[in-house]
Amino acid sequence: MSSLRQLAVEALSNLPLNGQTTLAVDAEARAILREWMLAARRGNSAPVAPKAPATERTPQTVEEKLEWLKQKAQNWPVAKALGSLRDTMVFATGSPHARLMLVGEAPGYEEEQQQEPFVGPAGRKLTQILQAMGLQRSEVYISNICKFRPSMGPQQNTANRPPADEEIAACLPIILAEIRAIQPACIVCLGGTAARGLLGHAASVASQRGKWFDCQGIATRVTYHPSYLLRNDTLSARRSVWEDMLAVMQKLGMPISAKQQNYFR
Ligand code: URA
Repeated sequence: MSSLRQLAVEALSNLPLNGQTTLAVDAEARAILREWMLAARRGNSAPVAPKAPATERTPQTVEEKLEWLKQKAQNWPVAKALGSLRDTMVFATGSPHARLMLVGEAPGYEEEQQQEPFVGPAGRKLTQILQAMGLQRSEVYISNICKFRPSMGPQQNTANRPPADEEIAACLPIILAEIRAIQPACIVCLGGTAARGLLGHAASVASQRGKWFDCQGIATRVTYHPSYLLRNDTLSARRSVWEDMLAVMQKLGMPISAKQQNYFR
């Protein structure tokens, strides 16, 4: 296939990533596509687009959309091209029908090993926070803004680093497509990196707390990353995160007991 045709096939097959199922083409594009199609029929060229196997029909259900996205993310060329992210893709965990979606920054050592977000120390802290809210991990949707563990280069050990701006940008279409598929009632950005990616905010988490923002029409809150709580195990930090979670529970219409209301007071 000519490289132009290859690019066209790639671009067309990625349309569902942006929630697009139809495409308007002008007369010139129609003429080119027709020429490619006729050439393919004459057998002197590879077909314009390989006939999609039955399993490659446009994803319809949320589960199908997420599975499709997961497959796309596996070899996401924009991320691979950077050369600064590790190979293993870590997608998301939880319910495709969740009303609450939590977005962190990137997988770390444990997450890469288990190919599941938030399973290391920060993940255990997140699980505790969810339990205090009366939620199981399986009831919410937990994902990351960056789908690959940022590489530390040849000296790679168990240490982790946050994703750089271009690494966030490379993976952004994937998390935005997850949000469009799931349509949660509420999103929580866990830390400044997620807020930078989803909301375009460079400000500190402290200055973004206590307000609702809009991400693709969905009420979005910014709070401290669970690893911040591990580093700053103070009453004030715990209380801040808990206040954010109470606001989230209220937004979701969840019952809040007197005990929950008074945690850390
Ligand atoms: N920190 C994150 O932001 N995401 C993970 O999945 C794990 C740790």
